[in-house]
Amino acid sequence: MKILGIETSCDETAAAVVADGKRILSNPIASQVEIHARYGGIVPEVASRQHILAIIPIVQQAMTEAGVSWNNIDGVAVTVGPGLAGSLLVGVNVAKTLALTGGLPMTGVNHLEGHIYANWLNSCQPHFPLICLIVSGGHSDLVLMKGHGDYVVLGRTRDDAAGEAFDKAARILGLGYPGGPAIQEASKNGTASLKLPRAWLKGTSDFSFSGVKTALLRLVEGDKVSLSANQSNQLPSQSDAAASFQEAVVEVLVTKTVAAAKELRVKQILLAGGVASNKLLRHWLVENSPIPVLIPEPVLCTDNAAMIAACGYYRFQAGKVDGLDLDVFPSLKLT
Ligand code: KG4
Ligand code: ZN
Repeated sequence: MKILGIETSCDETAAAVVADGKRILSNPIASQVEIHARYGGIVPEVASRQHILAIIPIVQQAMTEAGVSWNNIDGVAVTVGPGLAGSLLVGVNVAKTLALTGGLPMTGVNHLEGHIYANWLNSCQPHFPLICLIVSGGHSDLVLMKGHGDYVVLGRTRDDAAGEAFDKAARILGLGYPGGPAIQEASKNGTASLKLPRAWLKGTSDFSFSGVKTALLRLVEGDKVSLSANQSNQLPSQSDAAASFQEAVVEVLVTKTVAAAKELRVKQILLAGGVASNKLLRHWLVENSPIPVLIPEPVLCTDNAAMIAACGYYRFQAGKVDGLDLDVFPSLKLT
């Protein structure tokens, strides 16, 4: 069964063809990062306009690279939320048109569920029950999964999402956008020598990252440390601050995820979402977990359409087909 996936929830226009929810036949992504970087963040109207320009070429590219014609496609899966309304509308309308003209079934996919299903791509083989930590620009959710489409949210962020915290910290440190990769890069040259707080929120699986971000801001604004790119002086540098922030966020994510996994005696821990491409997070989770850990390769952690097609495959298997009146849901939750 070959599914065409379409993803336009934020600032990547993506299409993919995936066979049997697993085998990626094509997965092109048109990124808008350079355009939004000029503004220091995503500008919603600019994003929707870029999707309009890129969506048809990217679908054509996905079909060509997969070497398939419309007769070979068995269904269309499209992201319906959460995300930017104007961006989601572009993908959903293209999916409807393709479904109508090709006589294909269509299914609307929750973007967060899509991130989880990146773990079913290629040779990965998740085993239930499992817990998945979804860490993206808008979410930090810890989820128990006992079967396909069966989610219990154990905890979520009470303020900033992990990716949002990385983006804000990078802005504070003058490291540019997107913040996660910039912090990771700057951290390479630093040591985690600054004392930053960790919000453990004991007795819960919730997260909170606004405190560590504010502590970083106070350090910078209060001029208690002189953040300089110059490594030669004795003061903590921009890279030390980046490394300290990265470590503070990763330590909380790893500790709370492993604790929940042990308590629930799950078979596996899955990592998903853009922040899952962070090298320190990947390394520490694997190092500190007695339970097997699955993490998609970095390009499948950040937004892509292969994960949407993979999730769509399991939705079709469960008979979840949507009509041509399908709407977008900008604030969609997992449960
Ligand atoms: O999943 P994603 O591509 O889009 C959303 O669904 O939000 O996640 C984007 C987020 C951004 O906040 C970005 O800074 C973060 O993922 N990110 C990273 C890394 N790469 C992307 N955060 C930390 N380390 C990275 N290497
Ligand atoms: Zn995402």
